[in-house]
Amino acid sequence: MRHFLTLRDFSKEEILDILDLAIEIKKDFNQKKPTPFMSDKILAMIFEKNSTRTRVSFEAGIYQLGGIGMFLSSKDIQLGRGEPIKDTARAIGSMVDMIMLRTYSHQRLEEFAQYSPVPVINGLSDSFHPTQLLADYLTMIECGIYMPERKYNFPYITNPKVAYIGDGNNMANSWLFLAAKLGFDICIASPRDYMPDNSVVSEALEFAKQSGANISLTHSPQEAVKGACVITTDTWASMGQEDEKNIREKAFQGYCVDDALMSLADENAVFLHCFPAYRGQEVSESVLEGSQSKVFQEASNRLHAHKGIMTWLHKNMV
Ligand code: CP
Ligand code: NVA
Repeated sequence: MRHFLTLRDFSKEEILDILDLAIEIKKDFNQKKPTPFMSDKILAMIFEKNSTRTRVSFEAGIYQLGGIGMFLSSKDIQLGRGEPIKDTARAIGSMVDMIMLRTYSHQRLEEFAQYSPVPVINGLSDSFHPTQLLADYLTMIECGIYMPERKYNFPYITNPKVAYIGDGNNMANSWLFLAAKLGFDICIASPRDYMPDNSVVSEALEFAKQSGANISLTHSPQEAVKGACVITTDTWASMGQEDEKNIREKAFQGYCVDDALMSLADENAVFLHCFPAYRGQEVSESVLEGSQSKVFQEASNRLHAHKGIMTWLHKNMV
């Protein structure tokens, strides 16, 4: 049985297999063909933090796969009153077929998975947001920006270089793992005190030795976007960091993805953002709403990516 906690635990072939499933399932969805790959299965979705896209895409996704989704806000279950995570994992896991958990520390997620008798999907932890990255890469494939190992029905432009501008957070960490596993280049530009975790960077560099990815870090957004065909960013204050909002706003001055920054990237570059987005902070209104922005295609791809992840995990249960 496999969990989906970080991309660290998946080989390049497995990541591409999940994406192939997502592409097939999206095609069927667009042609209104049924995809009953999880008939009568129950997905419990536990949220200790807010969500719009992750909740809706997993809930709609499991229904479209023939199963049922159960939304559990931690405010409403005993977890929110301090029940140990290992008790919750065993109790819920004995009644459902798969569990998605959005939580705070990544250790909490790992402990949950350790005790769960069914596959656990990371719906976001403080350290990683891997389901988002599969939707992001699916969007890149549809935009013709992907590694050439597999053939897709989308025109192929170039070997991707991704520039991530902003906080070295769960999204930055996840981008590092995706690039390192698949072998594309990535440059992360963050202020001095907000770089991605050293341990994640070191691990990514190890994976990159095998895949050939070029991984670089800088404090200069202008340097990062040079030659990049994907520009992406994320909020400066993630969930759980609300108290640091003011101090972070000051630290991140100069890190807004605006038209001037976009003009330094590849002329065909696309802009991605996992959402929720804060206009005038990490991204300007004109970039978010502009012609290079693929953010709503990216958001809707959560649905298809998640159906691919659930189907793959279900198929790989022994
Ligand atoms: N990108 C993302 O995970 O969005 P939500 O927080 O709305 O789920
Ligand atoms: N880094 C953000 C991502 C939200 C989807 C957060 O953790 O709040």
